Amino acid sequence: MTAIKKAVFPVAGLGSRFLPATKAQPKEMLPVVDKPLIQYAVEEAVAAGINELVFITGRNKRAIEDHFDKAYELESELEAAGKEELLKLVRQVIPKNVSCIYIRQSEPLGLGHAVLCARPVIGSDPFAVLLADDFMDTAEGHKPVLAQMTDLYAYEKCSVLAVQDVPRAHTRQYGIVSASPYRPDLELVSGIVEKPQPEDAPSTLAVVGRYVLSGAIFDHLATLGTGAGGEIQLTDGIAALMARERVLAYRYAGQRYDCGSKLGYLKATAAIGMKHPETAAGYREFLQQLCKENP
Ligand code: UTP
Repeated sequence: MTAIKKAVFPVAGLGSRFLPATKAQPKEMLPVVDKPLIQYAVEEAVAAGINELVFITGRNKRAIEDHFDKAYELESELEAAGKEELLKLVRQVIPKNVSCIYIRQSEPLGLGHAVLCARPVIGSDPFAVLLADDFMDTAEGHKPVLAQMTDLYAYEKCSVLAVQDVPRAHTRQYGIVSASPYRPDLELVSGIVEKPQPEDAPSTLAVVGRYVLSGAIFDHLATLGTGAGGEIQLTDGIAALMARERVLAYRYAGQRYDCGSKLGYLKATAAIGMKHPETAAGYREFLQQLCKENP
């Protein structure tokens, strides 16, 4: 069995829900306290044993490449100033055994098309997909969400989608699965549909930004036309895959923040700000004060 060693990070979207912040910088570079969203996602992948990172980039995404590249000038200035701690932080952005590959998606034709762009690098291996704007926080002592999923893959040897229950009124924002109970926290997917209207949704179980996929998905993505919203949808590729292979939906242990939306991003900042050793105490006090003054 092939272990999951490769991850795809589609980062070519427009980030229109976060304009004007995303006019000239990628939304994946928005920081949550002191690290950009994409770095949290990369750390989650590395913690799951992944050592080949494939970024699907587009216009205005250079900052992501620079972030994971060596910063010669910055490093020599920090070194000269004797700022050892900061130097370590900058050098640790990516471990030495991890390689980064950048592929350009010339037009944002949809998430399915972005994933298909990774085919020349992934080949037929199983792989992970992480959407960095879905920020996943896990409680102390729990494995990060992607590691939970690669563990499941090692046991079940099939595609695994991260899912969570959402309010019915929100189904039009997600891929929604129909599924039947399989094991605790795990469901067998029998159908999947992109962005259904609440009255048409087969359930309220929504797919969120973590996937472990069989390499066979590429054959299906390659033959797809446009789907919901005029885009080539990953959901439609999964629907076709499901007709041939088992696909599981996993209710992960963790808290997801939709950092592609303003409110989700603010919630993530608050959650991490309350935990970060440098900000926890002061931030908590400030929030309590703010709530008291603005009941
Ligand atoms: P979203 O729909 O959340 O991303 O796509 P977006 O287009 O950047 O954001 P809004 O809706 O305009 O605010 C989910 C993920 O798929 C990537 C995005 O970068 C995001 O991580 N994506 C989407 C691509 O890489 N290429 C695409 O053609 C579309």
